[in-house]
Amino acid sequence: MPTILKIQGGKPLKGTIEISGAKNSALPLMVACLLTDKPFILSNVPNLADIRTITQVLETLGVIAHEDGNTRTLNASNIISTTAPYELVKTMRASVLVLGPLLARFGHAKVSLPGGCALGARAIDVHLEGLRAMGVTCDLEEGYVIAKAPKDGLKGAHFTMRVVSVGATENLMLAASIAKGETVLQNAAREPEIIDLANCLNAMGADVQGAGTDTITIQGVDSLNGTQYKVMPDRLETGSYAMASLITGGDLTLTNTSLKYLPMVRETLEKAGAVFEELDNGFRVAQKGPIIGVDVMTEPYPGFATDLQAPFMALMSVCEGASMITETIFENRFMHVPELARMGANIQVHGASAMIRGVKNLSGAPVMATDIRAGIGMVVAALAAKGETTISRLYHLDRGYETLEAKLQACGAVVERHKAEI
Ligand code: EPZ
Repeated sequence: MPTILKIQGGKPLKGTIEISGAKNSALPLMVACLLTDKPFILSNVPNLADIRTITQVLETLGVIAHEDGNTRTLNASNIISTTAPYELVKTMRASVLVLGPLLARFGHAKVSLPGGCALGARAIDVHLEGLRAMGVTCDLEEGYVIAKAPKDGLKGAHFTMRVVSVGATENLMLAASIAKGETVLQNAAREPEIIDLANCLNAMGADVQGAGTDTITIQGVDSLNGTQYKVMPDRLETGSYAMASLITGGDLTLTNTSLKYLPMVRETLEKAGAVFEELDNGFRVAQKGPIIGVDVMTEPYPGFATDLQAPFMALMSVCEGASMITETIFENRFMHVPELARMGANIQVHGASAMIRGVKNLSGAPVMATDIRAGIGMVVAALAAKGETTISRLYHLDRGYETLEAKLQACGAVVERHKAEI
């Protein structure tokens, strides 16, 4: 039964929100279980729809998965299939991450091409180019990539990525960890989630150096062990709630997280008038004075994250002055603009840039979540808007925000989930 969120805006958020484990780290970390026949235990895994999807993908391959609260035990000792089917890959592109580890451990894999998504074409050509450099042959049959490693296994390679891709960097790190010889990935993604994956692989006995820089060097080892590993905090959930604090004139403490994952976001929000106080296990964030318009361009890490562009646009829609937001990562990531306009925002899009002229108030309206982050943009806007906002297509939000309404309610937000009237 589809559900909707009803939010009565205008209440300053005050209190503490505990940040969950990072979805975008947990996904590749869970896939890493395919590299070993030993038990693999991950803690701080968020309970989210995307985590259930990757679990289903792994179970289709033969992985035995146990769930205990936020801990997942995964055992890939009895793999029965090396095919990731279209039905699962089309709902979540990160499913293609199984390609690298399956090729490395079993020598073959059949993975559905994901197809387009709400954010644009989002090819996986760089993933495949990197694997080809490691000796893999890839054929396309009926929408599936049929990939085969050389008879004597994947070969380490020196590979420069044409575009900085988080997923391709992860896929190739996973593959290279048990390939023969040295792999050097140049122009690699530098996101904190890449460091988390490298730390986990090293805890399994891999030799991955340089994660967090644009050159990652991996010395392949014969086999990997199981391990116990804690997923890093979700920096995107962190940034989203920080913006919710600011737009409502609130005062939030975010725990189990750190500002160190958000250098550019912090700098930008400070220019907009935010005040941060670092604490042992997180930070406090509140707005001082009016929200000032700031220009932003999304970029690969350490730049401003594309995944925080929509909530930042919601914040800027009530700024003093104006803000120009330029999206450089995805070609189609302004789907939230017409939704914000329904709430009274004044936004003009020119190609990859949006000009936001601040308005005094947003007003509640029925709107849609068009992807995970557009959805949280709607939530941030609704928390500040006058009157009631109804957000539909909540399945997008449920992919990325664990216990969203409970976390907000605990800080004074008036938000409820209802069954949608059909
Ligand atoms: C990851 O997606 C994240 N997903 C995305 O978060 C995030 O928006 C994105 O990185 C950018 O930061 C996960 O970590 C699970 P990319 P990914 O490969 O890896 C192009 C969210 O809301 N490209 O870094 O798929 C691509 O089209 C999600 O949580 C190629 O051209 O992103 C895009 O323009 C949404 N060829 C750019 O590179 C390729 O082979 C960056 O994509 C691969 C990518």
